[in-house]
Amino acid sequence: MTGLFITMEGVEGSGKSTQIWRLAERLNNAGYPLLVSKEPGGTKLGAELRRLLLAHHESGEVWSPEAELLLFYADRAQHVATVIRPALAEDKLVLVDRFEDSSWAYQGAKGVSDAKLGHLKEVVLDGFKPDLTLILDMDPIQSLMRVEARNRGLGASFQETRFDQEALEYHQKVRLRFLEIARKDPGRVVLIQAQGAVEDVETAIWQAVSGFLHRRGFKGI
Ligand code: TYD
Repeated sequence: MTGLFITMEGVEGSGKSTQIWRLAERLNNAGYPLLVSKEPGGTKLGAELRRLLLAHHESGEVWSPEAELLLFYADRAQHVATVIRPALAEDKLVLVDRFEDSSWAYQGAKGVSDAKLGHLKEVVLDGFKPDLTLILDMDPIQSLMRVEARNRGLGASFQETRFDQEALEYHQKVRLRFLEIARKDPGRVVLIQAQGAVEDVETAIWQAVSGFLHRRGFKGI
């Protein structure tokens, strides 16, 4: 495989989706052969799983963190086999919105042990990992406020927001786990401060990605 695999991670409301598309546009303009995808939902199977994952609470049944984890991994296994690896084999730059680090952060924060997470990663991914991962870091108080404001379609003030303490504590755990990933794997992971203006975050991301592509000798037009 000669392409390069880049992932973008971060808590909800960190601006990840906006930044993925801005990065994709820059990479397209620079002439890189690009494939953009996401987890969950980058394949037909994934789209089905995504629907289940995002809507299952309507059924009233609480899923165990392990059940949830296996669904994310079913999505990932299919995504790697049918989308990511084939694109890398065609020398593409593959940019994916969330990957294994999301399972490590989110399902880990729900109580799945690192040992189980590590074991499943080994069984399914067998050493396959991103060449570069960008983690958009932001205080969950700020990011959840953004989500809340977006959901209401207006600029809610902090006092007006209604996310509960439990959700906040969960997202704080998720954030700490992302920070731990960045600390443990500095060769792969770049931490991006996502609190600032969208343009500033975009510039920081572009510096990290263009520097990386340059170092790896990966060429655009
Ligand atoms: P999504 O709508 O894609 O959220 P976002 O725009 O913030 O990426 O929903 C994905 C949700 O799934 C998000 O809450 C993170 C969660 N998730 C996990 O818990 N584990 C995983 O392995 C992945 C890929 C996502």
